[in-house]
Amino acid sequence: MEELYYPNRTEAKNARVKNICEYNELVARATEDFEGYWDQLAKEKISWFKPYNQVLDESNAPFYKWFVGGKLNASYQCIDRHLDSRKNKAAIIFEGELGDKQIITYRELYHRVNKTANLLKNRFGVKKGDRVVIYMPMIPEAAISMLACARIGAIHSVVFGGFSAEALRDRIVDAEAKVVMTADGAYRRGKPYLLKPLVDEALSQKCETVKSVIIVERNKSDIKWVAGRDFAYAELVENESPFCEPEEMDSEDPLFLLYTSGSTGKPKGVQHSTAGYMLHAHTTMENVFDVRENDTYWSTADVGWITGHTYIVYGPLSMGATTIMFEGVPVYPDAGRWWKMIEEYQVNQFYTAPTAIRLLHKTGANEPKKYNLSSLRVLGTVGEPINPEAWLWYYNEIGGGKCPIVDTWWQTETGGHMITPLPFATPIKPASATLPLPGIFAEIIDENGNKMPVGEKGLLCITKPWPSMIRTIWGDPERYKKSYFGDAKKDGKPVYFSGDGAMYDERGYITITGRVDDVINVSGHRLGTAEIESAIAKHLHVAEVAVVGRPDEIKGESVFAYIVLKNEDSFGEDVELLKEVNKIINSEIGALAKCDSIIIVSALPKTRSGKIMRRLLRAIAKGENITQDISTLEDPAVVQRIVDKFNK
Ligand code: PRX
Repeated sequence: MEELYYPNRTEAKNARVKNICEYNELVARATEDFEGYWDQLAKEKISWFKPYNQVLDESNAPFYKWFVGGKLNASYQCIDRHLDSRKNKAAIIFEGELGDKQIITYRELYHRVNKTANLLKNRFGVKKGDRVVIYMPMIPEAAISMLACARIGAIHSVVFGGFSAEALRDRIVDAEAKVVMTADGAYRRGKPYLLKPLVDEALSQKCETVKSVIIVERNKSDIKWVAGRDFAYAELVENESPFCEPEEMDSEDPLFLLYTSGSTGKPKGVQHSTAGYMLHAHTTMENVFDVRENDTYWSTADVGWITGHTYIVYGPLSMGATTIMFEGVPVYPDAGRWWKMIEEYQVNQFYTAPTAIRLLHKTGANEPKKYNLSSLRVLGTVGEPINPEAWLWYYNEIGGGKCPIVDTWWQTETGGHMITPLPFATPIKPASATLPLPGIFAEIIDENGNKMPVGEKGLLCITKPWPSMIRTIWGDPERYKKSYFGDAKKDGKPVYFSGDGAMYDERGYITITGRVDDVINVSGHRLGTAEIESAIAKHLHVAEVAVVGRPDEIKGESVFAYIVLKNEDSFGEDVELLKEVNKIINSEIGALAKCDSIIIVSALPKTRSGKIMRRLLRAIAKGENITQDISTLEDPAVVQRIVDKFNK
């Protein structure tokens, strides 16, 4: 068995969960009395306006309801209740790409959120249940806008700033948003860039529901203003009152939508609830990062992704912590930027993605040595499997060999952490997410629902509902059922399929092996191969295309496309076509889905019923030998032709 890394005993004395026995006790309690376990936490951690009368309603599974009948407000939970004890404490520390800084106290956050809430309500007529799209860079106004929506009961849908106009439009249309909140632009790699023109382009078609666009002037760029539709945020917000009563929300009222990729082309609007989501955000923030009153916590995620929602905004603020928001990239002005910030702000918990760790290891291995990183107590990773080499560099060079790494497995759909070490309780092992959190029941099973033996890959499933789980796919409950719940049942209850493969070790620790569906993970960004394929298929000369993920040293996976042309002679060089294909991807999805390489092939390997054999294509892209039986293919010779072309 591999060696484990044990938590520091002195640090563990002050931790919330102090050792593995305490962890085991919590698991036992949650197993014996599942609802009682969550009930106690909900009573302790949430500031209820009105108590709930039922912990869990399973009568319409898998459409679960948690804390039925309770009333609360997420912005009250994140701000108002801290005002007595923490009004002058920093809630958000912001650093811009160019080094500009803002420290926003809880009192100031209260006023800024209230003013923004009043602006949405009074000036733009946003009501409870209306959808507001937030398409912003990493600036405090993004978090303030989210909390302002929560305050008045509007449902926010944050769209990552790296998505194209087309992708933004799809999300606006699907959610039928009333207002878009955006910025003129922001800074990246030290230079200004524009965001607002993409909003103009998105709204140029099919977005009749959007009546107003509110624009934060981040870099005072010269942008086009549409009279009657576009409004400058700063000018208007100053006229609003800094007091706004929080709307009484039902536990199950949606807090937000967040679009994510699935196996088919259309992104899914993952719908989260108010109470269950807030509870799990709060408790995982406390237990997994072990944040204490005077700590400074930093997640480098973007608010456009679920990590930014749960672990930059709702989780840290719910527990009254100080959360850092950083606008920029890790390599500007050099690969020491993050380490410099850790030293300057004396960061205690640092949470990032394996792809960034690999990039910084590769481009700036000596940078960490230039800074004092001794304030760090807990390190975290999320978003994709981390390889042992990157894990060890992170552990030794960033954590100085003394900080536990919490390798947190979870998803947009799970709302918060699911499988992760508790930093001062769980002995850790490089590249393993270790054990499920107490109250989370995860199991690795085969296609027939049998538990997998040690060392064999299976499907990672969650066998009981949990408070922060996805409630439905916006506007498509059938797709929700079909995407996540098959026929398998455990104790008569539907089983949630994560779409990930995983494996047990001898200790029962779980290692995630990656997606088993047609979703790929490029630099921690989740992309559906079907989305990329439908973009590429828009090229005039493309007859057929199949996209797969290919292992990449830094990005984890890169996008690789097999393309069949309508007329084989239309392109002399694959590189020419690659450029054109990437132009289309850029405008349909965004640069994050950029294709790294393509090959033009004469045909794709298909079964006699016409199904593309993606497993073969994945194996070829990885450079593996083809050992699978290909005799059932419509034309087995296709495979050798593709392999020959690939090796050329
Ligand atoms: O494949 C898993 C991977 O990221 C997917 C979820 O992506 P998304 O919904 O964008 O959320 C990312 C942030 C939570 C999962 O299905 N993933 C996430 N965390 C890990 C991971 N893979 C391995 N190890 C992890 N710690």
